[in-house]
Amino acid sequence: MTVTATFARDFPTERDSGCPFDPPAEYTELRAQEGTASLACPVGVEARVVSRYADVRAMLGDPNLSSHAAPSTHVVAGGLLDRPVAPGSLLNMDGPGHARLRRLLTPEFTVKRIQAMRPYIQGLVDDHLDALLARTGPVDLVRDFALPIPSLVICELLGVDYADRDRFQEQTAVLIGTNSDPAALEQANLEVVGFMTQLVLTKLAAPGDDLLGRLIVRARESGQELSVEELVTLGITLLIAGHETTANMIGLSTLALLRQPDQLAALRADPGLAGTAVDEMLRYLSIVQFGVLRQATGDVTIGDETIKAGEWLVAALSAGNRDESVFPDPDRIDLKREATAHLAFGYGIHQCLGQQLARVELQEVFARLHQRIPTLRLAVPFEDIEFKNDALVYGVRALPVTWDGENR
Ligand code: HEM
Repeated sequence: MTVTATFARDFPTERDSGCPFDPPAEYTELRAQEGTASLACPVGVEARVVSRYADVRAMLGDPNLSSHAAPSTHVVAGGLLDRPVAPGSLLNMDGPGHARLRRLLTPEFTVKRIQAMRPYIQGLVDDHLDALLARTGPVDLVRDFALPIPSLVICELLGVDYADRDRFQEQTAVLIGTNSDPAALEQANLEVVGFMTQLVLTKLAAPGDDLLGRLIVRARESGQELSVEELVTLGITLLIAGHETTANMIGLSTLALLRQPDQLAALRADPGLAGTAVDEMLRYLSIVQFGVLRQATGDVTIGDETIKAGEWLVAALSAGNRDESVFPDPDRIDLKREATAHLAFGYGIHQCLGQQLARVELQEVFARLHQRIPTLRLAVPFEDIEFKNDALVYGVRALPVTWDGENR
């Protein structure tokens, strides 16, 4: 019989192990206990925190869970747990409504479709590297490389006109960046919503051969027309979900690799390592750092423990990704590790829809950045790098880098 740890400690958010790439040290302690731990979340509820790999998968695979609250609301003090869910808000939908949208969207994210984008992504990475190398360092790799690449990939995916891409990119960078000026954020939000609405209206009138166009046709052909509101929310969901995450992964993983010269040398010597390297870095860094929140809608079983309807649960993805029973020596980066079963993209019905796209983007970045700039290094002391400790998606605010001599 399992004795469940039921103590109202605070949900761990402090990275107190001394290494900014490691999750809070408390996770190791939580994982050592069987079952879940009941912790107080900043949003003002108690949640059962699930920290072992197998338990996270069992939890996120359980049909008796609702995602109506935003995935990471638990760490937002004063956050809203019961906002009305906007039509098209995939991340917050449950049951048949979610399944319907997901079915319509899935053909856009197949391995084949995403592989077809690889040449475009390669070109994009090379163009940005050319632009960096045309300058003399230092440059901020976040601003000039990590942010624009995923943004332009989303433009390509959604079928945004080339002429509009600079403006779109500027505004979305404000939206997901570190600018805390509420007026600037509000303005960027209005612009992006206005922009997406215009894009959707154009595609509805004349659907092209792009994600939105094909989605509109697919829905019509199956007799389930999508509303303007649904399409705008979906477009913005893809934009935010795909931009902020990938950009943070580029910045943070570059920094983590610069700190691991042996692993970086192996990647430089064999760019083919990028395939396994990407999943290993996703596992190791688990940038959706506070995990994902759910509410039980019926009994949920974790091990031999039953969670009752109405209770809140948090799947601590970063804790599960450091579970030594699945990933031996979990706190070590091993770019050859076969880590594809990691939890960084979540698990279950909401598992990241864009994961193949994220992988291709990161693979191209990992392979090309270090090949073309083999002397890449930090332009400031490591201690001066600012980490996004309080953000829902972990990363670095800026990454000043420089290089010497011969580059390709
Ligand atoms: C869902 C992580 C890139 C689109 C998720 C979830 C996680 C995640 C953890 C699950 C959330 C939950 O269970 O509540 C990441 C990471 C990425 C990444 C770490 C990059 C490194 C992308 C990209 C796109 C994308 C490039 C698309 C352009 C989505 C969408 C969902 C999602 C649409 C919601 C799926 C659903 O609710 O059915 N992502 N993501 N993501 N992601 Fe990603």
